[in-house]
Amino acid sequence: YANPIALEMFGYKNIKELQKRHFIDFVLPQFKEKVNLDIQLLSPENKGRLIQYKVQDANKTSFWVETISNKTVFQGENGTLLCLRDITERKLAEEGIKKIQGAMKKVLEEVVSALSKTIAEKDPYTLEHQKKVSELACAIAKKMNLSPEFIDGLKIAAILHDIGKGSIPGALLFAPRKLTDIEMGLVKLHTVKGYNILKDIDFPWPIAKIVLQHHEHIDGSGYPHGIDGKTMLLEAKILAVADVVEAINSHRPYRKALGIQAALEEIESKKGLWYDEAVVNACKELFEEGFNY
Ligand SMILES: [Fe+2]
Repeated sequence: YANPIALEMFGYKNIKELQKRHFIDFVLPQFKEKVNLDIQLLSPENKGRLIQYKVQDANKTSFWVETISNKTVFQGENGTLLCLRDITERKLAEEGIKKIQGAMKKVLEEVVSALSKTIAEKDPYTLEHQKKVSELACAIAKKMNLSPEFIDGLKIAAILHDIGKGSIPGALLFAPRKLTDIEMGLVKLHTVKGYNILKDIDFPWPIAKIVLQHHEHIDGSGYPHGIDGKTMLLEAKILAVADVVEAINSHRPYRKALGIQAALEEIESKKGLWYDEAVVNACKELFEEGFNY
């Protein structure tokens, strides 16, 4: 049996034509297993679930449906009752939204990348450093099984984490000597400057705060505010480790690259003091497994 609306939906004029075929014949091949399994699992105690799949009508036009099935008795015989709704429009709308979201994500990445490049003219080292830190930070987060959404935010924060250096005099950034306390205080301000640049952008992640906290330590000995591990965002804890590892492992105007071994020894020696233990362990595991950026 099928009601008149079902007949119309599948492009048949009368019930006799439809009765020659089993419902599963209308289901597209890639969904048949899913639908069969759903029907097999049905019992008087076990009610059907709402499932979505594609079917095709008498003219071989395919469309999305959502169905729920139940066991029933019809004219004295056991049967399956199938309630069906055409959801093609909803599916098209969902696909449209996904496309727009994909395009927006791409635009956001391009804007962030352009913003990070504003530092390049003044300080090409920082541009390169931010890219590498971003790669390492995301790999650490993945190793820690953090969600793709978390990693998306971390990636943006890492690419922009030293953007505040754009407002620090080049003479201090590249000084081939030890800085005085006052000079060092000025360089440290890059965290607050970065925060101020980013704080009014309504990112779906706390990007400005992560940037502000990337030189904090979990024992409270970092800067600019000396907050501890309880207040520090996890993203900032990961960024702090990726930042120091990349910095030690890279060439600087005032010294040669010290190598990855020295970088890993540094984070191990400050594990639980400056750097979060789980983050340090994940980072070390990565390099033991041959990570390279
Ligand atoms: Fe920094």
